Amino acid sequence: MAFPTQHFLALICLTLFLSTTQDEDTPITRFQRYLRINTAHPSPDYSSAVSYLKAQAHSIGLQAQTLEFSPGKPLLLLSWPGSNPSLPSILLNSHLDSVPAEPSKWLHPPFSALRTSDGRIFARGAQDDKCIAMQHLEAIRNLRSRSFQPLRTVHVSLVPDEEIGGFDGAAKFVESKEFQSLQIGFALDEGQASPGDEFRVFYADRFPWHFKIRAKGQPGHGSMLYDNSAMENLMKSVEAVSRFRESQFDVVKAGKAMNSEVVSVNPVYFKAGVVSKDGFAMNVQPSEAEAGFDLRLTPTTDPDEMRRRIAEEWAPAVRNMSFEIIEKGPIRDYMGCPLMTATNDSNPWWLVFKQAIESAGEKLFRPEILASTTDARFLRQKGIPVLGFSPMRNTPILLHDHNEHLQDTVYMKGIQVYESLISSLSTYTEGSH
Ligand SMILES: *[C@@H]1O[C@H](CO)[C@@H](O)[C@H](O)[C@H]1NC(C)=O
Ligand SMILES: *[C@@H]1O[C@H](CO)[C@@H](O)[C@H](O)[C@H]1NC(C)=O
Ligand SMILES: [Zn+2]
Repeated sequence: MAFPTQHFLALICLTLFLSTTQDEDTPITRFQRYLRINTAHPSPDYSSAVSYLKAQAHSIGLQAQTLEFSPGKPLLLLSWPGSNPSLPSILLNSHLDSVPAEPSKWLHPPFSALRTSDGRIFARGAQDDKCIAMQHLEAIRNLRSRSFQPLRTVHVSLVPDEEIGGFDGAAKFVESKEFQSLQIGFALDEGQASPGDEFRVFYADRFPWHFKIRAKGQPGHGSMLYDNSAMENLMKSVEAVSRFRESQFDVVKAGKAMNSEVVSVNPVYFKAGVVSKDGFAMNVQPSEAEAGFDLRLTPTTDPDEMRRRIAEEWAPAVRNMSFEIIEKGPIRDYMGCPLMTATNDSNPWWLVFKQAIESAGEKLFRPEILASTTDARFLRQKGIPVLGFSPMRNTPILLHDHNEHLQDTVYMKGIQVYESLISSLSTYTEGSH
């Protein structure tokens, strides 16, 4: 008896296997197809991504337009008109691009979107953030198939260049007349996976400043002791930066703040020395020395105070030092307020968001500041409330890491959560914008 049954089952499995590897069209295969389009820097294939997503939008019945604020960098804007288009709209944002991957360090090729037998889908972008792009579309597909009608118009934006700062993507988009005409009342952008049972939500980003300090001084023989050499002055500054770094890190180590709630500063390069044939001249004290740092400000850090610290303590002109700060985007909104979205009763969108998560049977961890930076800052600068949210729980945080992957069941659950969010947010009528 046993043998024929097993044989029969094996045959069914083989048939299923063959059909899944052919042209099956399911939420998972549609996700995999997007993941297989290589939109990693330095040469993201934006046009393939946009034409794929446009075809998806078409099959769902969404309006689509491609905007191009920088040549070769398309931005796809999809719209689902609400029955009351005069109400402020909802925006669901994600980025088309991803960071590069080193294929040799991966278990499966990073653009294979291979799904293992235990359901993990491996791809660059699986978590950051092609998952949310496709979940936005799948949720809308499901709502439309149930004849759900939004009151507010729902827009989905898929923007280029987030991973390289967003300056040719979201930054230009928010300044455009097309953006202004959308009248956005509330937006969702990317968040981060949660290793625990609760979803994470982010109400602010930290702000990156890249700064370089340079020291100049009298060169001299490597055997001499004298004051104010370039290296000596640079080392003094490096020590001062390190002390500041420790003071911030101590707060984290003492459990009084999370990593994202303090200012972080990390050295990323040191440059000095007089080059010789076999390396550096070891008996010359160089006349110039330079160091570069990645500084991350919290939303409430006073930028003037930070600039003063750099100018007076870390690169004082009286020690013949100079500095350069490269600010990566805005740190205050158009009213001069910190770029934070309120997560209390003062923000009705927060209440609708929270309620929608709960009615999907899910729980939220307390709202956090994102340690890194997203395009949300450009939206917040316009005074738009934005929450960072990527519905992945019980999931290791693998963005920008080797072997980035997402469990299929987690991905499918995320679609349901967005159905709850989109239906609640798009039908919310109370309060004022
Ligand atoms: C700054 O540079 C000037 C000109 O090279 C030099 O005379 C002076 O000693 C330097 N001062 C310091 C503090 O390094
Ligand atoms: C809500 O949060 C905002 C921003 O954090 C804060 O400024 C405001 O005072 C809070 N309002 C209430 C009612 O708690
Ligand atoms: Zn991202």
